[in-house]
Amino acid sequence: MTLLGAASDKNVPLEARRRRTFAVISHPDAGKSTLTEALLLHARAITTAGATHGKAGRRGTVSDWMAMEQARGISVTSAAIQFEYHDAVINLVDTPGHADFSEDTFRVLSAVDAAVMLVDASKGLEPQTMKLFEVCKQRGLPVITVINKWDRPGATALDLMDEIKDRTGLLPTPLTWPVGIAGDLRGVLDRREDDFVRFVRTSNTTAAPEERVSAAEAAIEQGDAWSVAAEESDLLHAEHQDHDEALFLDGQTTPVLFCAAVLNFGVQQLLDTLVEFAPSAEARLDVVGDPRPVTSSFSGFVFKVQSGMNANHRDHVAFVRVCSGVFHRGMVVTHSTTGRPFATKYAQQLFGRERTVVDQAWPGDIVGLVNASALRVGDSLFDGDPVEFPPMPLFSPEHFRVVRPQDTSKHKQFRRGIDQLDHEGVIQVMRSELRGDQAPVLGAVGPMQFEVVEERMTHDFNAAIRFEELPYQLARRTDRDSAEVLNRARQVEVLTRSDGTLLALFSTPWRLAALVRENPELVLHDLATAV
Ligand code: G4P
Repeated sequence: MTLLGAASDKNVPLEARRRRTFAVISHPDAGKSTLTEALLLHARAITTAGATHGKAGRRGTVSDWMAMEQARGISVTSAAIQFEYHDAVINLVDTPGHADFSEDTFRVLSAVDAAVMLVDASKGLEPQTMKLFEVCKQRGLPVITVINKWDRPGATALDLMDEIKDRTGLLPTPLTWPVGIAGDLRGVLDRREDDFVRFVRTSNTTAAPEERVSAAEAAIEQGDAWSVAAEESDLLHAEHQDHDEALFLDGQTTPVLFCAAVLNFGVQQLLDTLVEFAPSAEARLDVVGDPRPVTSSFSGFVFKVQSGMNANHRDHVAFVRVCSGVFHRGMVVTHSTTGRPFATKYAQQLFGRERTVVDQAWPGDIVGLVNASALRVGDSLFDGDPVEFPPMPLFSPEHFRVVRPQDTSKHKQFRRGIDQLDHEGVIQVMRSELRGDQAPVLGAVGPMQFEVVEERMTHDFNAAIRFEELPYQLARRTDRDSAEVLNRARQVEVLTRSDGTLLALFSTPWRLAALVRENPELVLHDLATAV
């Protein structure tokens, strides 16, 4: 450890306490991109929000963020945006918008300390919202719920609260309550301050400071709309729907805010809520369930690996969530999977056009390690005291295709590309002796993953491919003895995934059930199900 390191280690508790590391998650179209921009605008990270966040030309969240960065000149990595707000340091970690990339979302949720769940007021809880609530529950992540688009007609606020309570099992504890029905946005009642935050129409390129007035003034100004809001707020109080920090952190309640992201309303309250209530970077559990205190020597884990982010350099970036200690660029850490040293000379925050070198990072921060081809998603890194964080689960694939090079003379590029995409966690790769090395089987949770493979293989690895769809719908983990039995059966195939797991693929759930009936000795385990 360098002298610099020894000196700054003392700051770890303070720096960890300042961190708020979270992700915004939602069903597509609920307003995630809009809210992200609005958050940055309010944090003064940017002075002008872009006039457009349309879908045209949108290819995914990464390019969204890159485009945003280019338009606004803000500091956006492909994985996280960091900005200061009052005394806090906010790390907003990006999640993919589409359900087909749910594996990536799950990985991101393992790297954050809280989630902001965005709900479209007129749509309520949509399928992806429900799945994401479930993942947060599994991971024990505290969730702040934000009801967005309150400027549009929609359900009543009380109905939305009932829906959250009934369908997620979380007790909603609104921090603000709308004054005026959905579509008639007048402002919100701040339930803790008991005053009124007025909605002020501004252009969507400026973040106006909040306008607050007392309850007495609001009653005169807003008339019936205020009395209704105040009565409903009392009703919530009678039902014990008030914020309770311990219950929130325990995943039993979810504080709720009402906003209109596109109008920049409610966004400052969200930032204040994050700073006040969201957990800071705290001890993380290792693979055996022991907490790694933030004051231990440096440790972190890889939650995302990405290549080809800079067309000029064939780079391979591993994004690491810092869990403990101080990260200093240039330090040599241990890669826990191999036990080998790993030099962090190229630690960077990647911006669209330029890269900023990260010299130091603290618990909660996200660091991009360039030239990190040895690192895989889920790998742990540490300095000093060894630690291994829990592995990232691989989800049960539901779509299967054989992949082959279009030009068989390019088998080297083909092999390298497929291995790389496997490494990055873009797709699961399975092989069998029967099919041979030139025809691996790819397994995906969502079919859009295949599109990414096709594009990356063509453009990044210069090895155009062709796919052949396989008629399988589900996979189960199995063992060698069962594999022998299954290999003799019809409509089932056993392959070895690159992590060594034997996977049996079945054409239909009925075929699986029939085989189990005929061969009760078969060993078949469920795999983690995708969100
Ligand atoms: P996403 O990232 O979650 O997919 O959502 P995104 O921000 O792209 O927002 C989806 C649509 O919802 C956008 O409209 C956006 O303008 C709109 N929107 C977001 N927040 C609000 C809000 O508070 N109120 C209202 N009324 N609309 C909101 P679009 O028509 O798809 O695109 P655009 O051309 O309007 O940007």
